[in-house]
Amino acid sequence: MIIINKNKFLLKNSNISYMFRATESGNLEHLHFGAPVDIDDDDALAVRYGTGWGTNNGPEGEEIPMYLPLEWSSLGRGDYRESPLEIDREIPAAFKYSFSRKYDHTVPIECGLPQAHGDAETLEIVMASPSRLSLHLFYTLFDTAVTRRTVICNNTDRDINVEKIMSSMMDILGDYEITTYNGAWIAEMQPYRAPVGMSGVVNESTTGFSSCLHNPGFILSEPGATETDGIVMGFNIIYSGNHYSRVQKTNEGLTRIVQGISPVSFDWILAPGEKFETPEAVMVWSGSGFGGMSDQMHRFVNNNVIPEYWQGRERPVLYNDWEGCMFDFNESKLVSLGKKAAELGCELFVLDDGWFGDRNSDKAGLGDYDVNRKKLPGGLSGLQKKLSAMGLDFGLWFEPEAVNPDSKLYRAHPEWAIQAEDGVTVLGRNELLLDLSRQDVRDYIVENVTRCIDEGKVSYVKWDMNRHSTALGASAHRYILGLYDVLRRIFGPRPEVLLESCSSGGNRFDLGMMCFSPQVWASDNTDAVERCRIQYQLSYLYPLSTIGAHVSAAPHAQTLRNTPLSTRGNISFYGLLGYEFDLADLSPVETDEIKDQIAFYKRYRKVFQFGDFRRLKAPDGISMQVSEGNIAIVGLFHEIVHAAPGYERIYPRGLDMETIYNVFSRRQLLNAAQYGGLLRHILPVKVRPDGALVRTAGRQYRMKDAERECDATGAALMSGMSLNARFMGTGYDPGMRMQGDFSSNIYVITTEES
Ligand code: DGJ
Repeated sequence: MIIINKNKFLLKNSNISYMFRATESGNLEHLHFGAPVDIDDDDALAVRYGTGWGTNNGPEGEEIPMYLPLEWSSLGRGDYRESPLEIDREIPAAFKYSFSRKYDHTVPIECGLPQAHGDAETLEIVMASPSRLSLHLFYTLFDTAVTRRTVICNNTDRDINVEKIMSSMMDILGDYEITTYNGAWIAEMQPYRAPVGMSGVVNESTTGFSSCLHNPGFILSEPGATETDGIVMGFNIIYSGNHYSRVQKTNEGLTRIVQGISPVSFDWILAPGEKFETPEAVMVWSGSGFGGMSDQMHRFVNNNVIPEYWQGRERPVLYNDWEGCMFDFNESKLVSLGKKAAELGCELFVLDDGWFGDRNSDKAGLGDYDVNRKKLPGGLSGLQKKLSAMGLDFGLWFEPEAVNPDSKLYRAHPEWAIQAEDGVTVLGRNELLLDLSRQDVRDYIVENVTRCIDEGKVSYVKWDMNRHSTALGASAHRYILGLYDVLRRIFGPRPEVLLESCSSGGNRFDLGMMCFSPQVWASDNTDAVERCRIQYQLSYLYPLSTIGAHVSAAPHAQTLRNTPLSTRGNISFYGLLGYEFDLADLSPVETDEIKDQIAFYKRYRKVFQFGDFRRLKAPDGISMQVSEGNIAIVGLFHEIVHAAPGYERIYPRGLDMETIYNVFSRRQLLNAAQYGGLLRHILPVKVRPDGALVRTAGRQYRMKDAERECDATGAALMSGMSLNARFMGTGYDPGMRMQGDFSSNIYVITTEES
């Protein structure tokens, strides 16, 4: 509900409230972002501002803005903190509250930026300036989040140069720590936590895109907040271009948070009568720790960001040929992979890079869309028909935003590529970006991608982008608007085509893309152990339904780690399960293990993809839980084994104290060959560690791991459910946990019959 009482404004539902008021001199004074409060709580919440503070002077007869918590700040009015707006110096840009409007819905953004959708109410605050510029601050209240965006209108008779305009600005009281997520290719989502001090912390991307160098999402938490207790706020922005956030505290203890498009190279000429609309900034609040904040953010993304068609809709288990084949494939190889994928239980076959033009390496062909008939003699539809006969849907990879100079497209239209200003060709992965701010470029992409989708009856698209660019300069925002236009034109009429966005792995894990793409490829790092960490960190701000996560080969191509197949599967469950390696060499035991994984995942897919998510206490490693109704599934992931291990437990949460649950571990099979000569303890014959018998046992012998079943009350389980012993040199039994390094188990806690 939105309540307006004279000069006071309150947005409130059962989760959160946001309150501010207009002062007599027209400033917007921030009062509260947090637990639900009442409109008349303003007196208690307002800062007891005294004119004697400091030596700073405000405008004559008015309060000194420097000491007020504000919703918006104007340059040149005595507030020395960061300003959310910078325009031509000669234009007075001091804005004062003018009037407000209420809507019982979201207010459409007209420039083509995507925005959150669903049930919502919106408050529009109109601020006027003597120069006839006006500012419109939009606050939209969703069930779990408040979003903010800004619109500036030029009602003057001259061009205005907008150099910086933030989506939101808010001053809150208190001490906070900030957590940002930084990284690089194959090293995404590394958390950085620091106290917010008077020097401030900036979280910004300048690669032209949202980037994995600095994910746009960040968290503010009160010191000492835990997974379950304390105030924690989550912030993000619905945008895929250069983003900027800064959080900085003042001497008096006000923390200013600004969020918006990065001002680096930003420059927007606003002609008379025109307006500029910023992307939507998102904020959620929780009084119950990081877990509570994640829960709010997950619900917001699942219910209000991803396309309506895919809300709550289960995602297919897919096979992707990239890590298995790279550019080296033909139709018969794909068909035999498809056959095996279908036998394992996969539902979708994704043909990745290399199916078009002269694309036999990453050096050529990008930009062209003619199917490579040497590889695919029957074209896309020929392959699709064969896959469909096996019961598989067909998915296809595209990288529509870039071009190889060695391509027909570049030879025909070199002017379509974005080049550095000095004309020097700077390639990234042998590519240049196409100028998506051009209508002809956008038309070319839309026409070709839709033709391929329709011809190949494609039900899933992997939309890749591997060329980052600081050469976009001032046109970076126009490029992003062009990208959204292309996505809207292709996928708007085809809502049932599942889009997975990807950008050299996790370079576009952002809410802007998620408005079109319900799932995002999290990282090119598919090493399960590293991936577990990446997925765990993503879970702070993004739901599992958005996290593409595939089982890959071991030893792993980037780390050489030999992670057990069971763990590789278990980790992918806490994302969107897929398989991405050559299936030709699977042993009978591996085949059985993967069949079990897929059958298990399908049975509990809804719980994994859309259930409530919790990060659990884990004395050694990582533990995560998903739950829905009377089912909770706990994963426990270890790293290095130590001799003489201690007793171990899992700590599920959210169970009913008195209900009696059945707990069982997912059946998983071990590779007996990894035990080498140790097998002599369980086999009646003498074995050589490197002999044929051990190798055969590895391929054929279905060696069970950590079988466990028990019944217990929720109260007992939440106190800590003791796990089976780990192997300690004392022989084998099927109940023992004996996978060694990087082992894991999944425990289902349920009232259903197993
Ligand atoms: C980069 C992606 O992140 C990979 O998954 C794969 O699609 C390659 N591009 C293909 O070139």
